[in-house]
Amino acid sequence: MTTFPDGFLWGAATASYQIEGAVREDGRVPSIWDVFSHTPGATDDGHTGDVACDHYHRYAEDVEIMAWLGLRAYRFSVAWPRLADLGFYDRLVDALLARGIAPVATLYHWDLPQDLQDEGGWTNRDTAYRFADYAGRVYDRLGDRVATWTTLNEPWVSAFVGYGSGRHAPGVSDPAAAFTAAHNLMLAHGLGVQALRAAGASSVSITLNLTPVLGDPGPARLVDGLANRLFLDPILRGQYPPDVLDHLSRFTEVNLDDLPVIAQPVDVLGVNYYTVNRVVADPAAEGTPEYPGSRGIAWEPPRGRPTEMGWEVAPSGLEDLLVRLAEEYPGVPLMVTENGAAVPDGVADPDRISYLESHFRAAHAALEKGADLRGYFVWSLLDNFEWARGYHMRFGLVRVDYDTLERTPRDSARWYRNVIARNGLPD
Ligand code: FCB
Repeated sequence: MTTFPDGFLWGAATASYQIEGAVREDGRVPSIWDVFSHTPGATDDGHTGDVACDHYHRYAEDVEIMAWLGLRAYRFSVAWPRLADLGFYDRLVDALLARGIAPVATLYHWDLPQDLQDEGGWTNRDTAYRFADYAGRVYDRLGDRVATWTTLNEPWVSAFVGYGSGRHAPGVSDPAAAFTAAHNLMLAHGLGVQALRAAGASSVSITLNLTPVLGDPGPARLVDGLANRLFLDPILRGQYPPDVLDHLSRFTEVNLDDLPVIAQPVDVLGVNYYTVNRVVADPAAEGTPEYPGSRGIAWEPPRGRPTEMGWEVAPSGLEDLLVRLAEEYPGVPLMVTENGAAVPDGVADPDRISYLESHFRAAHAALEKGADLRGYFVWSLLDNFEWARGYHMRFGLVRVDYDTLERTPRDSARWYRNVIARNGLPD
């Protein structure tokens, strides 16, 4: 048996806009994703999160599925646009606790209220202060029952896909805006941690999407700087890496006086891992607006058969990443807050099982090499609205029929249930 440590937190993850639906209920205000998804051409086939999985109304059934799976924890996000009425999250948290499932709440998984976007969104420093205020208010409502708080999900995506390439809401394409957004998101995180602690929170974290970069050393260093170190170093070390600061200074200026706020100690670092980046120097390459200043760098196609997202299946990247974090940023417990695969639809999903199995083994190998890994959340509990890719990408352990909204556990759900029950995998 490959056995995980006692108390290892096996879970599954979702996010508000991807599953809830009920976008006009109980005083919810529009978010940037409502506006963006209703913009012609923004998402595949014009899909929106208007109904999604209707989890807002079906959460009790979904919690029963989680209980059947044996989940020890469930990672969900609170929709900032629902701040006027947080009753839904009260009900959800109580249902989880009644089933012995630890709630892990993310405060920002990309659904910024549109009225804040109208004031500049994450390019406006004031949004960071508004976030801290929101964080404190959610804590006041749920803090007595939620064990672990996460400020932001994947600020790299918010900044560089939202404001760099514009492939995500709010659909802006401006490198200076992207770097400013990255900085203001980190400031929001730091201010949010302060607000949560002031309100009494004992376990606070942030989730980063971290992507190992393989290939020619120069391009790999640059892309690693923009994808990973741009966030890791300010948040965990209180400084921008000098090479990254030089690079971003070509586009904009950031206020370095914010660094002590950004570097508030965290109790856990959440890691979302899906794949690796492979880059090579190529003078003819245009680069990509998701990595501003990447002219002369080409991305190589995935090796082997990719997932439906087109992402290479690279479990060794997860092992390397966790070991690197343990060595370079010691003292911070780690949690895989997302990992999973979009595979062709069906209840039989052998490719998802083999993806998860290989990544669980990689995580175990990292544990054996000293990484302090505390838990693992599969993305995702349910098929859901996969942002710009709409409903075509199916990541669920549980299948959702979008005509009837019926849920059907896949083979991978049964398999995962066994992993959790045994706290490990047979050799
Ligand atoms: C991550 C997001 C999550 C989901 C997965 C596939 O970047 O955090 O919401 O879309 O990718």
